[in-house]
Amino acid sequence: MSLRDALRIPASRITDERVYLERRRLLQTLAAAPALALAGCAEAEPPAPPKVTVTPEQARSGFRTTETLTRFEDVSSYNNFYEFGTGKADPSNARKTLKTSPWSVVVGGECAKPGRIALEDLVKGLTPEERVYRLRCVEGWSMVIPWLGVPLGQVLKKFEPTSKAKYVAFTTLADPVQMPGVRYRSINWPYREGLRIDEAMHPLTLLATGLYGKPLPQQNGAPLRLVVPWKYGFKSIKSIVEIMFVEKMPETAWHDLQPSEYGFFSNVNPNVDHPRWSQKTERRIAGTQSKLFAERIPTRMFNGYADQVASMYAGLDLKKWY
Ligand code: MTE
Repeated sequence: MSLRDALRIPASRITDERVYLERRRLLQTLAAAPALALAGCAEAEPPAPPKVTVTPEQARSGFRTTETLTRFEDVSSYNNFYEFGTGKADPSNARKTLKTSPWSVVVGGECAKPGRIALEDLVKGLTPEERVYRLRCVEGWSMVIPWLGVPLGQVLKKFEPTSKAKYVAFTTLADPVQMPGVRYRSINWPYREGLRIDEAMHPLTLLATGLYGKPLPQQNGAPLRLVVPWKYGFKSIKSIVEIMFVEKMPETAWHDLQPSEYGFFSNVNPNVDHPRWSQKTERRIAGTQSKLFAERIPTRMFNGYADQVASMYAGLDLKKWY
């Protein structure tokens, strides 16, 4: 039986097999070699980002938006990665100091198959997918980024979580030698984040290994980061070295620092302001707009992913559980 028969998709909707195989080969290479050199990328970038095409199915799933992409040069130069300093340009220095290969992740807690696993093995057997997501930072700016990654849920299943696994806790590397920001207590290192198990298993939740068809730049959280598009950007933890299945809601870095301002859920919500600023609008850094004067647009409930995720929060008071 051919692949086409197996999938029962009309021929007109299938990508030419050669194109598909070539693309798959490229994606697999990227996943297997997350630390490929990025030499020359910045100069090679065109001034305006490409247009995205999307099928109705992808639009329904939330996997791809056709909104104008943020340019690669902005995605990779305007960053939050406090391990390298608190300025937006500081994380670019990660290119020089953060060693991303070899990389391994410790997975443990409430699961049948805990252990330390090499990054290549963690994503083995899973085909990287391109997801074009909005990223809304709690600070009030947003981007549209074409990520490359694998659904987190598919990775987690490999470790056979038990029924006690109610939450998943993530930890970033905290090495003061490679990450000069860790020498200062801007955060109680290591950076920690967490998701409820249903959020972690949701098909939109991505474990990203690349963006713009290339391996993740260090400043964006190479070689492996979380992307949770309906939550404020700080939930999307970078350079992950530990994943734990836990029974109790885990402590997270920003909640630990300022619990009245940063909750565990941190779902994007224009109706719940940050205590020090409004969350009703955002500066969309996209196309060729300059970062400081980017257009202000209304912020959408769950960052525009309400159709896909709102049911997970039915009955939850989103003002209390911010
Ligand atoms: N992960 C770690 N380890 N350290 C950080 O400082 N910053 C978070 C998140 N993940 C951060 C992190 C914040 S506040 C945002 S908005 C996003 O990363 C920014 O991701 P980007 O720089 O790739 O746009």
